[in-house]
Order: sequence, then C-alpha cells, then structure tokens
Amino acid sequence: MPDSNIPPNNDDFIRSVHERLTEVTDPELHASIVELGMVGDITATSDTLEIEIALTIAGCPLKEQIRGDVTRALSDLAETRQIQVKTKVLSPIEKARLMEKARILNQKRVNTTISTHTKVFAVASGKGGVGKSSVAVNLALSLCSSGKKVGLLDADIWGFSIPELLGTHGELRAKNGKMEPVEIPAGSGLLQVVSMGFLANSKEAIMWRGLILSRALQHFLEDVNWLQSLDYLIIDLPPGTGDIQMALARMLPETELLLVTTPSSYVEQIASRAADMAKKSHIRIFGVIENMTSFRCEHSVEYPIFGQGGGKRLAEFLHVPLLASIPIDPRIHKNPHEQQGNPAGGGTEKAFADLSDAIVKMSVSQDKMAGCSARMLEAIEHSLEN
Ligand SMILES: Nc1ncnc2c1ncn2[C@@H]1O[C@H](COP(=O)(O)OP(=O)(O)OP(=O)(O)O)[C@@H](O)[C@H]1O
Ligand SMILES: [Mg+2]
Repeated sequence: MPDSNIPPNNDDFIRSVHERLTEVTDPELHASIVELGMVGDITATSDTLEIEIALTIAGCPLKEQIRGDVTRALSDLAETRQIQVKTKVLSPIEKARLMEKARILNQKRVNTTISTHTKVFAVASGKGGVGKSSVAVNLALSLCSSGKKVGLLDADIWGFSIPELLGTHGELRAKNGKMEPVEIPAGSGLLQVVSMGFLANSKEAIMWRGLILSRALQHFLEDVNWLQSLDYLIIDLPPGTGDIQMALARMLPETELLLVTTPSSYVEQIASRAADMAKKSHIRIFGVIENMTSFRCEHSVEYPIFGQGGGKRLAEFLHVPLLASIPIDPRIHKNPHEQQGNPAGGGTEKAFADLSDAIVKMSVSQDKMAGCSARMLEAIEHSLEN
C-alpha cells in the first residue's frame, strides 16, 4: 500500500531535487556534487526532505559549508518540508572515482604563485558601475587593518581603477624574473597590490604591457611574487560575466564570488547572469554585498536614494547570505588620496569592518582543509612528482 505521507508526484519532486543539487559545487573540487557522485539517497515525505551526502573523510572541515549550501539550494523547493542533510563517508571505490574526476578537473588550474592556503574572493556584479572596485579596495584594506595578510589583484585589465581608488602611483618592478606587487600600508600591515595601472608609465613597461595584454590575468597569477603566506586575495573583476570571469574560474578554480549589487538593481536579470556563470564555471557564490544602500544625513536620517531591498532579494534568489549593506558615502570618491591606507571613513568604515569580520568568520580556514579531498590529491601528485 502506498505511504499516504508521500505526495503523488514524489518521483518528479525527487528529480527536481536532484536537478537542483547539480548547482551545488564542492568547495574544494570545484565540480557539482552530483557530478562527483557525492549525492546519495534522497527521500521525501510531506513533512521532510532527507538528502544523503557522501564526503571523502568523516571529519571533513567543509561538512557544515556543504550542508549549508545544500540546504540553501533546496530551501524554496522544499516548501514546508524540513530539510535534513545526512552525511556519510565515500567507499574506497567511490573515493577513487571521485579523485580521478578531481584530478582531471585540477589539470585546468594554471601553475599560479598563489598559495593554496590563500582564500580567494573575486568581486563581481551583473552590471557595471555598482561599486565593485570600491568594495574590493575597502574590503582588502579592512581585512589588512584587522591583521590579515592580503593581496588585491585588479583583474580589470583595460578599465583598471584600483591605483586611482587607492590614491597611489606605484610601479611594478621585476625581481628574479617575477613581478613584485606594490605594497600599500594598511593598519599595521602592508597590502600587496597588482594592477595594469602600475605598468602604465615606463617605456619598457608599455612595451611589455603590449606583449602580455591578452594574457595579463594569467601573468598576474603566474608571474607575480605574491606573498606565500597571504590569507586573502581579493580580485576586482571587470563589469559583466564575460571572458575574464570564465578565465579566472578556469585558472584559479578555488575562487569564490562576492556579488555586488545596488538596492535598485534588476535582481532577476543579474541573478540569472551570475548563476549562469557560476554554474558554467563551477564557481561558488559566497554571498551578496549591497552597495549604496542609503544616505545618512547629518541629522542621522536615512535616505534610500537608490531604492530598497535589491541585495536581500538577490541573496534570496541565489540562496546565499547577504553579507553587508554599504551606505552611500561621498568620501569614497571625493577624496581618494585621503583614503590611502585606511578604509573609507564614516558609515562605510564600520560596514566594511563588519563585512571583513563576516568573511573571516564564514570562510573555512584553508589550513583546516589539509585532510580534505583536493588537498589529498595535491599531496599524492606532489609525492609522485618527487
Ligand atoms: N558606497 C558608495 N557611496 C558613494 N559612492 C560610491 C559608493 N560605492 C561606489 N561609489 C562611486 O560609484 C562609482 C562607481 O564605483 P566603482 O568604480 O567602484 O564601480 P565598479 O562597479 O567597479 O565600476 P566598473 O563596472 O566600471 O568597474 C565611483 O564613482 C565610486 O566612487
Ligand atoms: Mg571597477
């Protein structure tokens, strides 16, 4: 006799759950958890939706992250059902299969100078002019001021703005065949910065710039002497979801996206562009940042000049957290020189400090991942090479 708790269209429902789970990416292996064979039994009643996820090791430090990603991805589909994510460990045969897939995927990563212990975030948006570069700069400065070792890579090769936003005119210099990042004081530390804007002055640089233009991003990942102990690398992306974004996902697949939006942005369009890019490249969307949320006047009255709710709606649409709401602060662009070494003053300073705290708290430390899937793979490959 059929279980009266199970709705009549259960098979269709399970299929749509499975389909939805293809969008969840393993944070280490950068492939869909379905493709990697990590999704086990899915059972649904009218009250519960139970998903079994197989992990490479029992104590996987990414367990909670994967559990959260699965829950978020299914939250609207599950409707009133309670989502239960159970974890188990892959059998040796399943693990071997998964590692083979991961090995093929890993071959795409370029030989970068960025340590695998560095957490990489790219600041992206569905459209231009929403404040990506301003967010990238202030977030990097804020993380640096809180004692983290931070790099800032301007991946907007043609429309670079990081040097101007930082109010600095440094120059990248070569040492032992590698480029040295420009170092900007921030808090008690130094922010390492690389931008095409630092190559614009000398004759030699212009020649060299011409040579590498088409492959500039790859050079920035391969030929820059990034500090090996960097905790965070923040990458400022050009507008849109085009070639550079896809190239970055291919060359540095551990990158996670911070999606900047404004309160008035046409959420559905941006969400579908960003989600499409994330899906195609298996890049994980870490969260949404709403910029230019409201203007606070000298009498502490808030004016939502650019509308309301865009960040929250986009986050809900993508099932990711809204990480911060950054107020409108004219000092962000009026006096860029004053901001050198300090996150922008006033309302944005606190918002960026809160954002960097949230990011530090929410990102699983790369060191804790030593026993995890891709790290195991790295260790195996390393021992085979030597
Ligand atoms: N919170 C803010 N308050 C006030 N002005 C801001 C804020 N954020 C950004 N701006 C201003 O908005 C403009 C666009 O910002 P920014 O260059 O950071 O955007 P972007 O998304 O990087 O643009 P592009 O798509 O061209 O790269 C700049 O003039 C900047 O100073
Ligand atoms: Mg920009």
